[in-house]
Amino acid sequence: MEGILLDISSALFQPFSIGSLTLPNRIVMAPMTRAFSPDGVPGPNVAAYYRRRAENGVGLIVTEGTLINHPAAGSHPDWPNIHGEDALQGWSKVVDAVHKAGGRIIPQLWHIGMMRNIGDPPNPEVRPIGPSGLSLSGVQVTEPMSDSEISAVIDAYAQGAANAQRLGFDGLEIHGAHGYLIDQFLWENTNRRTDRYGGDLVRRTRFAAEVVAACRRAVGPGFPIVFRFSQWKTGHYTVKLAENPDQLAKLLAPLTDAGVDMFHCSTRRYWEPEFEGSPLNLAGWTKKLTGKPTITVGSVGLDGDVVSSLSEGKGAQATHIQLLMERLENEEFDLVAVGRALLADPEWAAKIREGRLSELIPYTPEALNTLV
Ligand SMILES: Cc1cc2nc3c(=O)[nH]c(=O)nc-3n(C[C@H](O)[C@H](O)[C@H](O)COP(=O)(O)O)c2cc1C
Repeated sequence: MEGILLDISSALFQPFSIGSLTLPNRIVMAPMTRAFSPDGVPGPNVAAYYRRRAENGVGLIVTEGTLINHPAAGSHPDWPNIHGEDALQGWSKVVDAVHKAGGRIIPQLWHIGMMRNIGDPPNPEVRPIGPSGLSLSGVQVTEPMSDSEISAVIDAYAQGAANAQRLGFDGLEIHGAHGYLIDQFLWENTNRRTDRYGGDLVRRTRFAAEVVAACRRAVGPGFPIVFRFSQWKTGHYTVKLAENPDQLAKLLAPLTDAGVDMFHCSTRRYWEPEFEGSPLNLAGWTKKLTGKPTITVGSVGLDGDVVSSLSEGKGAQATHIQLLMERLENEEFDLVAVGRALLADPEWAAKIREGRLSELIPYTPEALNTLV
């Protein structure tokens, strides 16, 4: 057992560099919305929550989604903002706490678009916005976004990027996944526009590419920009933006050209092959097609992911992490994001490194109720 654990530690605990940013290991905390920031302001509890992950060996923290400076960006009063003096002061303390613990941290910039319902807080008078005013299930809720709305939102992303850099974050991540605003432009079901922001797959990347380019202009060269995307959408788990590698290449090329340094390829189960005929997952294909480093994610460290091995107890996790390690060693992808396992157990990375598997705290939905 000890031999296995030393082995599994090796690939995961190698340093990694993106531009000028060097990470001590390959473990990333996946972005997870927690709704513990009243009026959009993260307080000492949020700083302590991220600091605990940094102290316990997470290589890179991606914060929960942070709302850009647009009135329709969010739909909950306790989601944090990445604008406004109070919120920025709060984030500054989060960054300091993580850095003092030897960690690295980047915020995730977020606008939920048509995932917002009419009347939602924190600005109930503001209507939701999206490329064609369509909900994810195809209901016409509002008018399509106007050109001036589109440029205001792009400016808000750029402002969020500039704020992130000014506060001392180590880079930033753009949330282009899961059916939120940017993904609504990418997906044909929610983007029916006939102007330059709509049309075929490549034309539908225009908004995302303009967001990336605006963020890049705001932060200059060298400040890492990560782009998170997914095939699946909230409530629509089997849809795909790209049906084959050729389409995936077409989807990602404009984003790479606009200034993305690394792709965060969101899947629900990292071990699932993305396309028929190859074992590569979404992060594997993305790395192969773009030449950029990638982050994989999806059920890492969860007992439930290897149902057949459950009867073997914690040993199942060791076996499964061994398989992950092999793919990391083969450089299919570069970093591994961990969501729920790290939400439940702030010491997850340290326990994996030290082989303390029997001490891991398993994820349960109750873990969402507190910010430990
Ligand atoms: C409570 C919770 C909140 C989440 N919030 C976000 C978010 O704000 N942004 C995002 O890109 N993904 C979000 N996700 C998805 C996670 O980042 C991750 O991709 C997903 O949980 C799969 O990883 P896991 O199986 O290791 O948990 C969230 C997931 C959970 C469980």
